[in-house]
Amino acid sequence: MKSTPKRYLVTSALPYANGPVHIGHLAGVYIPADIYCRYLRLRGREVAFIGGSDEHGVPITIKARQQGCTPQQVVDRYHEMIKQSFADFGISFDVYSRTSSQIHHKTASDFFRKLYEEGQFVEKTSDQYYDEEAGQFLADRYIVGGCPHCGNEKAYGDQCEKCGSTLSPTELVNPHSAISGSKPVMRQTSHWYLPLDRYEAWLKQWILEEHKEWKPNVYGQCKSWLDNGLQPRAVSRDLDWGVQVPVEGAQGKVLYVWFDAPIGYISNTIELLPDKWETYWKSEDSKLVHFIGKDNIVFHCIIFPCMLKAHGDFVLPDNVPANEFLNLENDKISTTRGWAVWLHEYLEEFPGKQDVLRYVLCANAPETKDNNFTWRDFQDRNNSELVAIFGNFVNRAMVLTQKYFDGKVPPSGTLTDVDKAALADLRAVKTAVEDNLESFRFREALREAMNLARTGNKYLADTEPWKVIKSYEERVKTILNVALQLSASLAIVMEPFMPFTSQKLRSLLNADSATLRWDALGSEALLPAGHRLGEPALLFDKVEDSAIEAQLQKLEEMKRKSDAQAYHAEPQKALCSLDDFQKMDVRIVKILEAERVPKSKKLIKMLVDTGIDQRTVLSGVAEHFDPQALRGKQVAMLINLAPRSIMGAESQGMILYAEDFDGTLRLVQPATEVKNGVKVS
Ligand code: 2FM
Ligand code: ZN
Repeated sequence: MKSTPKRYLVTSALPYANGPVHIGHLAGVYIPADIYCRYLRLRGREVAFIGGSDEHGVPITIKARQQGCTPQQVVDRYHEMIKQSFADFGISFDVYSRTSSQIHHKTASDFFRKLYEEGQFVEKTSDQYYDEEAGQFLADRYIVGGCPHCGNEKAYGDQCEKCGSTLSPTELVNPHSAISGSKPVMRQTSHWYLPLDRYEAWLKQWILEEHKEWKPNVYGQCKSWLDNGLQPRAVSRDLDWGVQVPVEGAQGKVLYVWFDAPIGYISNTIELLPDKWETYWKSEDSKLVHFIGKDNIVFHCIIFPCMLKAHGDFVLPDNVPANEFLNLENDKISTTRGWAVWLHEYLEEFPGKQDVLRYVLCANAPETKDNNFTWRDFQDRNNSELVAIFGNFVNRAMVLTQKYFDGKVPPSGTLTDVDKAALADLRAVKTAVEDNLESFRFREALREAMNLARTGNKYLADTEPWKVIKSYEERVKTILNVALQLSASLAIVMEPFMPFTSQKLRSLLNADSATLRWDALGSEALLPAGHRLGEPALLFDKVEDSAIEAQLQKLEEMKRKSDAQAYHAEPQKALCSLDDFQKMDVRIVKILEAERVPKSKKLIKMLVDTGIDQRTVLSGVAEHFDPQALRGKQVAMLINLAPRSIMGAESQGMILYAEDFDGTLRLVQPATEVKNGVKVS
C-alpha cells in the first residue's frame, strides 16, 4: 500500500488554441480532472491543477494563413475564448496559461539544451519536401496531392480526409505545396531525435511491471507500443512558429510541438508557484497525474516520461487516467465538419446550467469505451434524474419543513427501520464515493452520490409525511430531520461533480461550507435541530422539447453546410463521341399528370406532353417529390430511351434530374417557359 502523497500535481491536456473547446474535450479530460481536484481539495490535500493552451504546431500556422493573420493572433483569440469558457464552466484550474508565454519558451528551451548538452539526442539527416517558391520546408500537412487509395485530389501529406487513410507525403500522386501551389523538391535537412529505443527496457519495467494498476485502455496501448518496438523520434521541425531550437546554427528550426507542449505543464507550474514549483516537480512525495484523451496516450505515457527520465530532475507520472472518445448523436465529433457542441455556445444557450452538462457528461463519460452524447439523453437525465429525483427530493423536504415547522429543522425522535436504512446510506456514501474517485471511476462515484438522492426521494415516498402529519406530528419531525440531513449530505457529496448546485443547495439550507465540509460527510447531524433553513427554491428546471429540437436543428444545419463545402464533383466519365451524344434526344416536356404507383414506395407515374405526343413515363422519385408538386412543370426528358415495362406500366422515356450533394433531387427546368418539345442540345 502506498502512503498518501504529500501533494498532487494534476495536469489536464493543453488544448490547441486553434478552435473552441467542445463536449468531447470536457467529457474526456476537463470534467474528470476538475472533479478529482475539487475532491482532493475538499479532503484538505495540497493540489496544483495545471491547465493552459497549446499554442504551437502546424495547424495553427495553417489557420493563420487561411485567415490572413499571424499565428499569434490566432492563438490570442482562442486562448482567451477557451480560458473564459473554462472559467464560466467551473473548471477550477489553479493556473491556465499558454505555451507562447516567455516563461514557457525559456523552460522548454532550457530543457532541450540540457538534453542536448548531455548528448541525449541523435542528430540525423533526411530528405524532406521543400517549397522553393516559399523558401521553406513543408510539414506533411502542407503537402497536398492525390490519395493513392481513393483518388481524392486534396489529400494531405499525412492523411486523406476523404477515406481516412494515413499517408506519407511521398505516397501522394502529383504532390504540390499548399503554400505556393508549386511542385516541391526533395532537400536534405537535419533534426534532433530522442532515441526512444534506448528507453525500451526501462519503459517495459516501469509501465508493464510497476504500473499494472493503470486503466486497461492505457496499459493496453502502452503495451502494444512497447511490443512493436520504439524508434527514435524527431523533436525538432523546420518551421518558423514555435520554440526556437537553442543550438547554434539551428535557425529556422523549432521544437516539435509535442516536445514543447508537455513541458508546458512545468512552465505553468513555475508561473503559478515561482518559489515552490520544485516541491511539486522534483520531490518524490508528490503525485503527478495526467488527465488526457486516448489520442494523447503515447505522448504522456511513453515520450514525455522518456524526456523526463533523460532530464533526470523530475517526477514521473503516477497515473494517466486517459478516457476514450465521446461521439455526438452517434457520429464522430469533428471540428472540421462542425459536428460538435461547443462549450462557449452551450454556456450562452443554457445559462446557469453548467451542472446539467457536467452531470450528463460525467454520468456518461467514455471511461472504458467510446460513448455517445445525445440531446435526448441530456434532456432525459435533466428531467428525470436531476429535476425529478435530486431537485424534487430536496424541494419536498424544504417545503414541508417550511409548512409544518416554520422552516426550522425539527428534532429527530425514535428511529424506525426505514429511517435507519436511509441513514445507513447516508453513512456509506462517503467511502463509496472516495474509493471510486481515488481510482478514477468518476461515473461510478457520481452514481453513488446520486443514489443518495434516490434514497431520499424514496424515503419521502415511503414515509409520506404529508399524510402522517394529520395524526402524528412527532413522527413527521423525525422524517423531516432525516430528509434534511440527507439533503445536507447531498450538498457535500455533490460538490466535486456539481459545484454550482452544491453552492445553491448550501444557501437554500442556510449552511456554509465550513459546516457542510467533506469530513463531516456521514454525520447524521449535519444540521442541528432548530437550525433555520433559507427559502425553498428549485434546484433544477426542466429542459423543454423546443430547446432540444433547436439543438438538433442546429447540428443538422452545420452538417449540411459542411457537407456542401466538402462536396467534390465526381470525376468525368470516359469520353464519348459527338455521334454518341447526338443519338440521345433530350427535350423539354410538360408534366400534365402525376400520381404514385399503387403498392410501390418509389414510383411516380406521369403523363407528359412531349410536343410530339402525350405519353406515360415512370420515375423512381416518390421519396423525393409529392406528385402534386410535379404537375404543370416543364422538365428535361430523354424521349428516345427504349420503352421499358415497370410494374405493369410502360415507361416511354426518362425524366432527368440533378442530384444535389446530399442526395436531394432537383428538377432540371428551363429558366423561362418554352414550347413543349424543344430540343436540349
Ligand atoms: O491533443 C491535443 O489537443 C494536444 N494539444 C494536447 C497537448 S497535451 C500536453 F502535452 F500539452
Ligand atoms: Zn483517400
